[in-house]
Amino acid sequence: MSEGTIAIASDHAGPSLKDIFKAKLEERGYTVLDLGTHGAESVDYPDYGKAVGEAVASGEADRGIVICGTGIGISIAANRIPGVRAAVCHDVTSTKLAREHNDANVLALGVRVIGPEVALDCLDAFFATEFSGGERHVRRIGKLG
Ligand code: RB5
Repeated sequence: MSEGTIAIASDHAGPSLKDIFKAKLEERGYTVLDLGTHGAESVDYPDYGKAVGEAVASGEADRGIVICGTGIGISIAANRIPGVRAAVCHDVTSTKLAREHNDANVLALGVRVIGPEVALDCLDAFFATEFSGGERHVRRIGKLG
């Protein structure tokens, strides 16, 4: 994938990584929908996971990225929106497989778990890897819906 609109959001744990991602994505020609948060003030991750989930599910964004301390809480929130498949990834392998097998449309990262370089590797893998397709993966993804 090399173009489109990406919705991105984080809670108070992740604005600096969000800003780095935003700059990288814009450099690469994506339109970035930055849904906050924009500072260190404590906020509630469900609000931000929901916002990205809704942007992806409605088609306003092609894919989403959500960031919190662990990636877990914000991914749970995003996954409550029908049509969203948010995957918490910790490395290139989990990110590639989330795309190949799960057709993940939202990447969830935890800034308290992985460092910025691994996070950037995950970002690259998320956009470089296509869904494998095939009857078994399509069937399984259908069951998630
Ligand atoms: C916020 O302190 C923290 O709970 C949040 O960033 C996240 O890790 C939740 O899953």
